[in-house]
Parts: sequence; structure tokens; C-alpha cells
Amino acid sequence: MNILFMGPPGAGKGTQAERIVDTFGVPHISTGDAFRLAMKQGTPLGQKAKEYVDQGLLVPDEITNGIVRERLQLEDCNSGFLLDGFPRTLQQAEALDGMLAEMGRSIDHVVNLKVDRGLLLARLTGRRICKACGATYHVMFNPPVQEGVCDKCGGELYQRSDDTEAKVGTRLDEYISKTSLLLDYYSGKGLLREVNGEKEIDEVTGEITACLRGSL
Ligand code: AP5
Ligand code: MG
Ligand code: ZN
Repeated sequence: MNILFMGPPGAGKGTQAERIVDTFGVPHISTGDAFRLAMKQGTPLGQKAKEYVDQGLLVPDEITNGIVRERLQLEDCNSGFLLDGFPRTLQQAEALDGMLAEMGRSIDHVVNLKVDRGLLLARLTGRRICKACGATYHVMFNPPVQEGVCDKCGGELYQRSDDTEAKVGTRLDEYISKTSLLLDYYSGKGLLREVNGEKEIDEVTGEITACLRGSL
């Protein structure tokens, strides 16, 4: 199954993707995670991406499309994929259509996690991530058993550098001006599934699972 997760920053794409990939047995491909890894490793890609990510701006399309193109060629995508945070511009969406057409594949479902803007700031400023395994927590909404420590692997939790109030504002503006129009693009193709992302994490997972299984 070939799935896209859409939604504004903090909607829960990563949180839900971690769960959904286990159920459907497809790899989780997050362009944001790929950029953060390259930045941590200090590669040329990471240095270039840092100029944009640190400001809350979108990384240029050519760079982002190249990463996804390479990733989709890997063998684990033969069973399908879950793309989280890509595409984010019309140009990226058209590029993805082209890549998939070359591979003789297509998108099955586009899941849009709907969350009101007012909730997103609290979600993002309270988010914590495991340094070792990447699991996502929230200090209020999804706290680990022991503060600052990952439940899954015991790793140390950290806060993303773009999760400050100022950067969240820029990220939301980027989403509204460049990404939200993709909802019309996929709705026009009959692929869009709207899910209420404001419910409890488990309820949202249940709704997405039902959607993907075709019972919603
Ligand atoms: P990226 O890493 O994709 O960030 P984002 O889109 O801003 O989304 P987030 O990861 O912040 O939110 P999420 O929806 O995954 O929420 P999460 O599940 O963590 O991109 C980062 C940067 O990389 C971009 O700004 C850009 O510079 C660059 N980039 C990436 N892709 C790009 C592209 N295609 N083109 C160009 N540039 C690109 O949840 C958030 C918090 O809420 C967590 O603490 C979680 O525990 C909590 N939470 C989740 N669900 C619930 C719930 N139901 N109830 C209560 N709390 C919840
Ligand atoms: Mg994410
Ligand atoms: Zn961990």
C-alpha cells in the first residue's frame, strides 16, 4: 500500500506513522527525519538543508525531490511506503507523480490529519524526541514514564531546534501558503481521506487504520 500523510506541523503525522507502519508493514519515509539525520552527520546535504530547516522554511524542491527519488528505489519500498511530510508543494506533488509513473506505481491513499491551528503550538513546544530511536513524546499529552527518558529504549529525550514559538509561526505560514493547496490537488484525484487529528492518539490511529482498510 502506498500512503501519504498530510497535515500541518504538529498534526501528529510522525506519531501516527510510527504506529501505522507496524500494522501495514511498509517503511516510514519522513523527509524531515532525513534532513535532521543529514544535519546531525554534517553531510553536504545536511549543511544545505540546515539553512532552511533552522529558519522553519521549506527546503528547495530539487533537493527534496532527489532524496525521495533515491529512497523510493530501495528494496523495502517494494511492499509499499508511507510518506510523511512529502510532498509539500505542487511541484513536489507533480514530481512524485512522475517518479511513481516511471516505477509503474501510484498513490493509494492520502490521509489528511486535521488539527486546528490553536492546538498546534502547544503540541510542538511540548514535543520531545528520543535521540536513540526517534520515538515521539509530549510532556503533557504523551509523557514518558520517566521524565526525559525513552520508554522504548531508555534513550535520552531532546527538543527539536525548530520547535520554538517563533519558528513554529514560520512553519505554519509555510504550510498555509505552499502546502495546504495540495489538499485540493488530491481531493480532485479522489484520493483524499480526512481524519480528525484532535482526538486521543489511540482514537486517531483507529480512524486511520479503518480508513486505510477501506471501511470508512
Ligand atoms: P518535518 O519534520 O516534516 O516537520 P513538520 O511537518 O513541521 O511536522 P512535525 O514533525 O513538526 O509534526 P508531526 O505532524 O509529525 O507531529 P508529531 O507526530 O511529531 O519537517 C521539518 C522541516 O524539514 C520543515 O520545516 C522543512 O524545513 C523541512 N522539510 C521536511 N519535508 C520537506 C519537504 N517535503 N519539502 C521541503 N522541506 C521539507 O506530533 C507533535 C506533538 O504532538 C508530539 O509531541 C506528539 O506527542 C503530540 N501529539 C501527536 N498526536 C497527538 C494527539 N492526537 N493528541 C495530543 N498530542 C498529540
Ligand atoms: Mg513529524
Ligand atoms: Zn528511544
